[in-house]
Amino acid sequence: TFNTTFNTIVFGEGNPSARLMFIGEAPGATEDQTGRPFVGDAGALLDKMILAMGTRREDVYIANVLKTRPPGNATPTPEQAELCAPYLYDQIIAVRPTVIVALGMPAARQILQTESTMASLRGIWATWRHPAPQTSYAPTVAAEFVADVMPTYHPAFLLKSYTPENRAKVWADLKKAAERLGLKPRA
Ligand code: URA
Repeated sequence: TFNTTFNTIVFGEGNPSARLMFIGEAPGATEDQTGRPFVGDAGALLDKMILAMGTRREDVYIANVLKTRPPGNATPTPEQAELCAPYLYDQIIAVRPTVIVALGMPAARQILQTESTMASLRGIWATWRHPAPQTSYAPTVAAEFVADVMPTYHPAFLLKSYTPENRAKVWADLKKAAERLGLKPRA
């Protein structure tokens, strides 16, 4: 069945040639109202993370696996994620980021095509390639493009489990991403 419970399509926003791209899960209530990604509580934390990494929100690109708010704000199902995946993949090859930070399990699973847990994925560099480049609007570009992927916990998870351990883990992951880009992260 079609999802008819959302108000706006939240495509993504930011620098269209950003070197750093964040991929979240799905629009929440505030995102669905405003049409912009990561503008609620999780977004406020993401903004702080971006600044701590030594860059600015307007210099990165921010997208989600799902482009519309899931009914009941539920975690995206793999089927919903697959339906939105072509938009996400074309977004990635249009922006051509050097580094993708996959925020949370749905993003990590969709980007890396894995069933692994976040505990085993986070903090370890992975690679994104278009899984079906011939389906892209720019097949040659899609076939050749690769991006480094750093999976980490979602800021909404961090807000719920705001422990020194979890904060240290996310910060270690984000620092790796910043350093890969030659940014000057906060110590
Ligand atoms: N806002 C978003 O845009 N994405 C998330 O995953 C969470 C909040």
